Amino acid sequence: MPLNRRTLLSGLAAGLALPAFRADSITRVVRAARLAGPRPAGELAADEAYWSQIAGAFDNDDTLINLNNGGCSPTPSHVLEAMIRDLKFSNEIPVHHMWNVLEPRIESVRRELAAEFGCDPEEIAITRNASEAMETLTLGIDLKPGDEVLLTNQNYGRRSTTWEQRARRDGIVLKQISFPVPPPSQQDIVERFRRAVTPRTRVIEITHITNLTGQILPVREVVRMARERNIEVFVDGAHAFAHFPFKRDDLDCDYYGTSLHKWLLAPIGTGFLYVRKAKQKKIWPLMAAPEKMDADIRKYEEIGTHPAANHTAIAGAIAFHRSIGSERKAARLRVLRDRWARRLMAADRRVKVLTPLNDTDSCGIGLIHVEGVDTNKLQAHLWEKHRIMTTPIVHPEFDGLRITPNVYTTLSEIDTFAGKMEEILKKGLPA
Ligand SMILES: Cc1ncc(COP(=O)(O)O)c(C=O)c1O
Repeated sequence: MPLNRRTLLSGLAAGLALPAFRADSITRVVRAARLAGPRPAGELAADEAYWSQIAGAFDNDDTLINLNNGGCSPTPSHVLEAMIRDLKFSNEIPVHHMWNVLEPRIESVRRELAAEFGCDPEEIAITRNASEAMETLTLGIDLKPGDEVLLTNQNYGRRSTTWEQRARRDGIVLKQISFPVPPPSQQDIVERFRRAVTPRTRVIEITHITNLTGQILPVREVVRMARERNIEVFVDGAHAFAHFPFKRDDLDCDYYGTSLHKWLLAPIGTGFLYVRKAKQKKIWPLMAAPEKMDADIRKYEEIGTHPAANHTAIAGAIAFHRSIGSERKAARLRVLRDRWARRLMAADRRVKVLTPLNDTDSCGIGLIHVEGVDTNKLQAHLWEKHRIMTTPIVHPEFDGLRITPNVYTTLSEIDTFAGKMEEILKKGLPA
């Protein structure tokens, strides 16, 4: 939906318990929306006049190039300010301002997150991150010794660690599949899962988009294959929500966990857990809740005293995300990805991009492998000499530099990165 000052303000009035935007943030978002006009996402994706307005909503340090937004992203200035404002307000008299005034506003954040994800608000619990959301699932489902859980060897490290601890503690059995990067097809991945299922498989955990190469996995197909066999599927969407467009029904999943401090650009320490209504009684909360909450999604939020300000500020991040729109954001991220990836592949035969460069199998995350160049040294060199932040990925089966720009990244920053990489390809890394 195109955004103008009126639709933005009416959106605020309609429901979100939104913190006030800074005056110049509103102006920037409205100016950007005017520049965008009715143009389709693809056409706008390389329009620096539009994206520089978006970049202006962040107080970023232009002496650094941040290409590790996958780890954690900065939040727009108005969101950060709203959080600080609410922290100060809480601090005046926490037992009243934090508990009575701010905490109830979590309900409007729940409602708006549910609208974005495409589920009922009674299916969304607000957590501190994806780890908390996913740990709730791993540690909250009843399993017996000998029950099998199927993972891939590209699941996030802490996810595997959690299942391994459960295996040590409860005698469950972990099985892992591997798949090539990039895989020959989405169907190939589904088949690998299907072949690894046994009559004892109780849970499959799948990453919606991997943090390693940025491969988007066939969640819907795996969920359907598993459902026919009474297997629960936990979806780790830490990197997917608000990164590229999808809704719950596109995945058809019963369980989903995500961070909001990555692609939604919400403040650090925010995430959500989705559990389909009919499944909620099956999953225990990490911290105990009374029995009367067994079928209440809020049982997953019973974590003791914690700041309300992080949660209320999510509302500002949702409004910012909507002001850009999912399609536009994904199109821009793909333009940024293709710009460095295609240039570097063309520059040197030793370069391999282990991420499929298309509009369905990946989005803003890309992994570049350079034959004969040590990934850790390359990452250190780019940061220490050029202040370009990337992520070294070293997996037993592949390695490379992970590049994750964000909506504020400019084409010229991507070109600077690509230029420095070309220099390294020509001259090698200094000894
Ligand atoms: C795939 C995946 N799952 C889970 C997590 C955990 O996210 P958080 O640290 O925000 O809890 C990450 C973090 O990068 C991740 O990449």
